[in-house]
Amino acid sequence: MAGRIRDADIQLVRERVDIAEVIGERVTLRNAGGGNLKGLCPFHDERSPSFNVTPARGVYHCFGCGVGGDAITFLTELDGLTFVEAVERLAARAGLKLTYEDIDGRVRRGPSTQPGLKQRLLEAHALAADFYTSRIVEPEAQIARRFLTERGFDREAAAAFGCGYAPDSWDALTKHLRAKGFTAEEITGAGLAKPSRTGNLIDRFRRRLIWPIRDSSGAAIGFGARKLFEDDQGPKYLNTPETPLYKKSQVLYGIDLARRAIAKTGRAVIVEGYTDVMACHLAGVPVAIATCGTAFGAEHIRILRRFLFDSETANGRIIFTFDGDEAGQRAALKAFEEEQRFVSQTYIAITPDGQDPCELRQHRGDEAVRELIERHTPLVQFALDREIAKHDLDTAEGRLHATRAIAPLLARVKDRGLVDEYIGDYAGRLGKEKAELRRAVAGAAAGAATSRASEQVPTPRRSRDVDSTQLRAQRELLKLALQAPQIAGPYFDAIDATPYTDPNYRAVREAVVAAGGTANAAAGANWIAAVSAACAEIAAQALVNELAVEELRLDREPDAVYVRTLLARIQRPVVDAELADLKRRLQRINPSTDKDEYMSLFGKLMGLEQHARSLRDQAANVVE
Ligand code: GTP
Ligand code: MN
Repeated sequence: MAGRIRDADIQLVRERVDIAEVIGERVTLRNAGGGNLKGLCPFHDERSPSFNVTPARGVYHCFGCGVGGDAITFLTELDGLTFVEAVERLAARAGLKLTYEDIDGRVRRGPSTQPGLKQRLLEAHALAADFYTSRIVEPEAQIARRFLTERGFDREAAAAFGCGYAPDSWDALTKHLRAKGFTAEEITGAGLAKPSRTGNLIDRFRRRLIWPIRDSSGAAIGFGARKLFEDDQGPKYLNTPETPLYKKSQVLYGIDLARRAIAKTGRAVIVEGYTDVMACHLAGVPVAIATCGTAFGAEHIRILRRFLFDSETANGRIIFTFDGDEAGQRAALKAFEEEQRFVSQTYIAITPDGQDPCELRQHRGDEAVRELIERHTPLVQFALDREIAKHDLDTAEGRLHATRAIAPLLARVKDRGLVDEYIGDYAGRLGKEKAELRRAVAGAAAGAATSRASEQVPTPRRSRDVDSTQLRAQRELLKLALQAPQIAGPYFDAIDATPYTDPNYRAVREAVVAAGGTANAAAGANWIAAVSAACAEIAAQALVNELAVEELRLDREPDAVYVRTLLARIQRPVVDAELADLKRRLQRINPSTDKDEYMSLFGKLMGLEQHARSLRDQAANVVE
């Protein structure tokens, strides 16, 4: 029977876990003022950051696509964990021990809910990684150690990257994992073994040098394995197959080690293999990453952009390294085809003599690797030169064709200042007037724009409410109740839900009361979680998160005057409507026959008018 995690423990997890740290492992976050952090949304593609995190309140919200929640929600939505798995993972990183209890509140021993599949696969990978590294010191692994040494990696470097050895055995790892309680399904599901013809499990990696492939948080999710023996019939490199953890179109080898440096410098270097990543990091290029056995594609770009903070204002650089041979040049052009997906500029660093960064480091040392990366040139320039080289510039026809061929490439250059520079440069080489080339580029740009327009993604939804002053004040009050309950509290709670005209706002106002009112608000994340839990509907829940992170329309700390002014503003229409209603009723009464009722209503009218006047005065305060 499934036990539940104690509510108090879940609250403790929310309090102790730094949401900025959890999200920061997957998205580079920058300071956005007002205690908020901003990044590129991991849940939708965007060019400028609208994904907000408010650490003090333990919540995130994307103003572009509307997603939001706390650290627990984030892990369930991005990593596909269940609620319990997410709580368990966060508790583990915060060093908290969870208590599980029965429905009737009796404490149970240890987790009784089955950990989800992904969690199990992660555990199997952690054990497998340890297993492989423990084997690299064995006599049998001498050939693996020699391979590393020959490529310039000493023992320390090998350990830093977790290099290991898969022994010459059909099922050494399988047995190890079975002994630790993993089922055959889990082991095959992790891609670590597969059934033989006889039905027994055999290890996927045998007699190979092993690199653990880690996700951005540093958890092993797969392995790369290099052939060491001549009689090994398999491919030179063998990787983990597609599993629930390992998607090769998304995997970036080295991202766990590189992400901080990538965020800090706004640069990323894309290399080809495991040894190149190692060589770059050891040589002082800590921003190097590689794909694993597949080309650098759209999904890799989507993920890298989040770490790069790749946006209009960021001015980042993506540097591809390729060797200068034919295959390398083709790969570079392929990279260029996708480069429009970045906002940042893309560059290429071409290694001399067809060496890769690993070989370059072996032969010429760390300094040469750093120089290689420093000497990067724009990828577009490389593509332009390749295009020009295809044409015979000695003939007028060749020059015309070359012009036509490079115009669309020039039209794609993101930096408008650079375009002009290139136009001058290439017009010269083609023996054309600058104006002529510029016209060709403009023509190509117009063509590209129309074809882009036809595949336009719909613009993200904008909050439609904020423009009306009434709704704006309502919204601001709810933000105050969520973000500054101690200040909003005494006044906010006193006014019921009537003035909140938007049904969603009213729902949030009611959830605040249902959560115990602002007067009883818990600190930080738990207050938001409580209000969110008190919401009857998902829409209101999403709104709670949005309001919890949206900045106040105020460039100072909120105070009581601000709260009361806004409350006056939202009450005015209600009181005005009541006044109109009273007046109508008074008109229908005959004062001489229904004297008592008339006097009573008249008394009410006087009182209400006085109230309306004071509201008007208060509402007129200039507070923003
Ligand atoms: P060594 O040649 O062993 O020094 O290493 P290297 O990294 O220079 O190898 P290479 O340049 O041949 O390959 C670079 C990267 O391409 C590797 O790290 C792998 O990710 C990938 N790769 C190369 N060969 C294969 C293969 O046969 N299968 C798969 N899946 N990937 C490969
Ligand atoms: Mn190589």
